Amino acid sequence: MTPDPQLNAQGRLKHFLTIEGLDRQILTDILDTAESFTSVTDRSIKKVPILRGKTVANLFFEASTRTRSTFELAAQRLSADILNLNIDTSATVKGESLLDTIHNLEAMQIDMFVIRHQDSGSAHFFAQHVRPGVSVLNAGDGQHAHPTQAMLDMFTIRRHKQDFEKLSVAIVGDIKHSRVARSQIHALNILNTGEVRVIAPRTLLPVDCEDLGVKVFNRFRQGIRDVDVVIMLRLQKERMTGALLPSEKEYFRQYGLTAERLSLARPDAIVMHPGPANRGIEIESSVMDGSQSVILQQVTYGIAVRMAVMSMIASGGVDP
Ligand code: CP
Repeated sequence: MTPDPQLNAQGRLKHFLTIEGLDRQILTDILDTAESFTSVTDRSIKKVPILRGKTVANLFFEASTRTRSTFELAAQRLSADILNLNIDTSATVKGESLLDTIHNLEAMQIDMFVIRHQDSGSAHFFAQHVRPGVSVLNAGDGQHAHPTQAMLDMFTIRRHKQDFEKLSVAIVGDIKHSRVARSQIHALNILNTGEVRVIAPRTLLPVDCEDLGVKVFNRFRQGIRDVDVVIMLRLQKERMTGALLPSEKEYFRQYGLTAERLSLARPDAIVMHPGPANRGIEIESSVMDGSQSVILQQVTYGIAVRMAVMSMIASGGVDP
């Protein structure tokens, strides 16, 4: 069997590229480590020295608010030096290849690269080409994976619902173009979630959807019934080719989360969204801001979860 490129010979994380292929113990270690970091983020002095002397570079070739900012805060709270490369004003606009950019940054003794890139598979590609001892953390690659987002989502679910085996979780919307949905589905299945549902029109489902280990629903009202967790997704218009939907208004009519539809889920169901959310397209404002929404908690937990992943890589996952 080909070894997992994100693990070292001892089976510990040296990169964090995808959830797929990881075992339950590693995911649980990330969640437990993140739990210990939540107290750091609550302190008046929010720093621990775990990454003191290390340098983290943020390379975002696509827009981001949450992921970029929480990776930066996580690195700062672990006492790392952090470099935010502005891609729009970097030498990539003069034609420098991405690999040359990476190698030039390595020459500045970067220890970890946090990379978001529009091409699926780019994080694996960068991981293959960095020097030994340098780590790559995938902050979202094309339609492929967004592993730290999935882990902060698992952390949020565990905080509210504890036992994954008893849960029914519905992921709603543009599954086809969503790296978040893929990573969430892998994580939920690895953590032995009782039932993972996806709810979407046929045009927004990947062809291999059932092979991912989910139950597919095309009708919202059937899919949401009695679930414990509802995860809404944005329509990823930037990745769509052709007309997959009649209109946003019609999409909201059929697949938007309204208070009335949410009432079909369990009364204590939580509502999640990785962001950015489009109010009135996939979710009604009153639900997004309502008492069952944990959307802003997801953002907060992103710091502790990203601290956990970086600290696990730094404490033993990196090959010398
Ligand atoms: N969830 C997420 O990836 O958000 P950003 O695009 O703002 O980073």
